[in-house]
Amino acid sequence: VLKELIGPFSQIITMVNLPERGAISDNSLEIIDDGGVVIEDGKIIDVGDFLSLSKNNLDVREITYPCVLLPGFIDSHTHICHYGNRSDEYAKRNSGISYQQILEEGGGIHNTMNSTSNSTDEQLTDDTLNRLKRHFQEGVLTCEVKSGYAPNLKDEVRMLRIINEIDSSNDIDLIPTCLAAHVTPKKYESSKKYLDSIVNDLLPIIKEENLSNRVDIFIEEKAFSITEASIFLEKIKNDFYITAHANQFTSGGLKVGVDNGAVSVDHLEVITDQEIDYLSKSDTTGVVLPGCSVGLGIPFAPARKLLDYNCKVSIASDWNPGSAPMGDLLMQASLLGSTEKLSNAEVLAGITCRAANALSLEDRGSLENGKIADMIGFKTNDFRDILYNQGKLKPSFICKRGKIYN
Ligand code: NIG
Ligand code: FE
Repeated sequence: VLKELIGPFSQIITMVNLPERGAISDNSLEIIDDGGVVIEDGKIIDVGDFLSLSKNNLDVREITYPCVLLPGFIDSHTHICHYGNRSDEYAKRNSGISYQQILEEGGGIHNTMNSTSNSTDEQLTDDTLNRLKRHFQEGVLTCEVKSGYAPNLKDEVRMLRIINEIDSSNDIDLIPTCLAAHVTPKKYESSKKYLDSIVNDLLPIIKEENLSNRVDIFIEEKAFSITEASIFLEKIKNDFYITAHANQFTSGGLKVGVDNGAVSVDHLEVITDQEIDYLSKSDTTGVVLPGCSVGLGIPFAPARKLLDYNCKVSIASDWNPGSAPMGDLLMQASLLGSTEKLSNAEVLAGITCRAANALSLEDRGSLENGKIADMIGFKTNDFRDILYNQGKLKPSFICKRGKIYN
């Protein structure tokens, strides 16, 4: 079908005309009751009152149950391309040994670097696809995926090639990010040499093969120092979008990210008022990762405060085998909302329009003319039921680039 009208939806929450930073009240949400969406060639060409739209003699895809429509969710920070699991470390942490100590003793990220590099391409692809399949069913229609589990640069390239192949073979759009600067693999003598070889040997290949236009770095005492990160980012910031793992266990990374024009600084569990103020005066999005707080048993990043200071804030799952094994973005965003006292609008914006912004994507995140037709519908007639169910109400209707699954 060329042109198609879908509906009626009990409510369409369009997520249009919302501020890109700061607090939002539910009153600011545009809600179209008994709405319809017209799509053509995978894009939205009209959104409005279903009855009026149905006077245009279009083919109609009828929705026969109460349904609230939202833009497809966008998960702007994941590590779902990995092999192996770390339930042993999870148990260890719950017995009182810290994440950083496990890392320092050669486990943690090193552990997953080993298992991932020992996996076959097929194993790594299958496991990643299975996670994506679950994400898709839970409404995540765009997913950032980081590399970063490679003990050498050759395997980094392998990971990014696999992520790109999966992107072209599955329904979810993937945004690949190079996280070679996750931790220094054991075989390198120094982190300085390792970072230099990322700049000199790896990034040219990534450019040449067009494997990613984003680079991430884990700025932390046990990973890369503030000085190392500044030197690294300074060298590459004109060639790649920058994002950083910052302020997870210690302060300081945020400023390095912001000063180098990062599109986002992610984590922010440990953050000073001064840093919040600094972030609020920048264009950088603060991405909070409630799944990591749940996985590590640490406090959430202060999302309420970040919003009240007028920061850009979005929410992502951080799905990874160490700090965030759960991977349920909607459940995590709901839990963050009830703990941090966020409005429905703030939580939903954090996983739609504001997440699009964190990934520099202009073609999605809201339901309006010209955007791609990425839409999810929940079986209810009141949008507030979605977060109220704390992640247990899953989408019943999924439309990815105009292709409908239900
Ligand atoms: O975002 N902290 C650094 N990176 C990931 C965890 C990766 C892992 O433990 O495997 C994070 O928490
Ligand atoms: Fe992460």
